[in-house]
Amino acid sequence: MASPKNKILIFGGTGYLGKFMVKASVSQGHPTFVYVRPINPHDAHPSNSNKLQLHTQFQSMGVTIFHGGLEEHDKLVMALKQVDVVISTLPVPQHLDQLKILKAIKEAGNIKRFVPSEYGNEVDRVSGLPPFEALLENKRKIRRATEAAGISYTYVSANAFAAYFIEYLLHPHDQSTTDQHHVKVYGSGHAKDNYSID
Ligand SMILES: NC(=O)c1ccc[n+]([C@@H]2O[C@H](COP(=O)([O-])OP(=O)(O)OC[C@H]3O[C@@H](n4cnc5c(N)ncnc54)[C@H](OP(=O)(O)O)[C@@H]3O)[C@@H](O)[C@H]2O)c1
Repeated sequence: MASPKNKILIFGGTGYLGKFMVKASVSQGHPTFVYVRPINPHDAHPSNSNKLQLHTQFQSMGVTIFHGGLEEHDKLVMALKQVDVVISTLPVPQHLDQLKILKAIKEAGNIKRFVPSEYGNEVDRVSGLPPFEALLENKRKIRRATEAAGISYTYVSANAFAAYFIEYLLHPHDQSTTDQHHVKVYGSGHAKDNYSID
């Protein structure tokens, strides 16, 4: 008999990457949960209506939504106690807020695996220039805190999602500011890069 699928809770599930995580989790048959900040229905900001639509879409896919903030420890513990695996796709400014999730995971005591919000460089092997180095250092801090807490983890280093950077660095749809015929190469054009898979 097939063992029951792990229940997966996603933080940041309404975000750029989180949406893919939620859909992938559902499509693989995992009971899927998201922990999202409450939306004020009277706030007419377009990002709110987008998120409301997304919440409705999630619900139609069978996703359970927990509404709460990362500072609401008891709510976090209550949500965590209902799941097996935690995936975080929180954005860069919130990386250290994952310490609050780790504290709640420790208290809940039932989480089989934590996947912190990384999805970029292998942070223990690379260093960067400021302010990028600060981002890497925050990701390292979350790794060390996860290990110190004795929580099982998976670190995902995906390097860069090209589509993400094309959209906001190159503005391909903005004809007025895009020079369609020239590519700008910084430095001498002979810088070496190294891609490895292990
Ligand atoms: N390798 C690459 O090329 C690449 C590219 C992009 C991102 N990344 C990484 O992927 C991860 C996710 O990034 P992203 O761009 O997908 O994030 P994002 O879209 O900016 O945000 C994800 C979600 O986090 C929640 N959030 C935002 N501010 C918050 C706050 N103050 N408190 C609590 N929750 C908050 C929001 O969900 P709710 O409002 O629903 O709570 C938001 O939808 C990051 O670690 C980033 O470094 C990697």
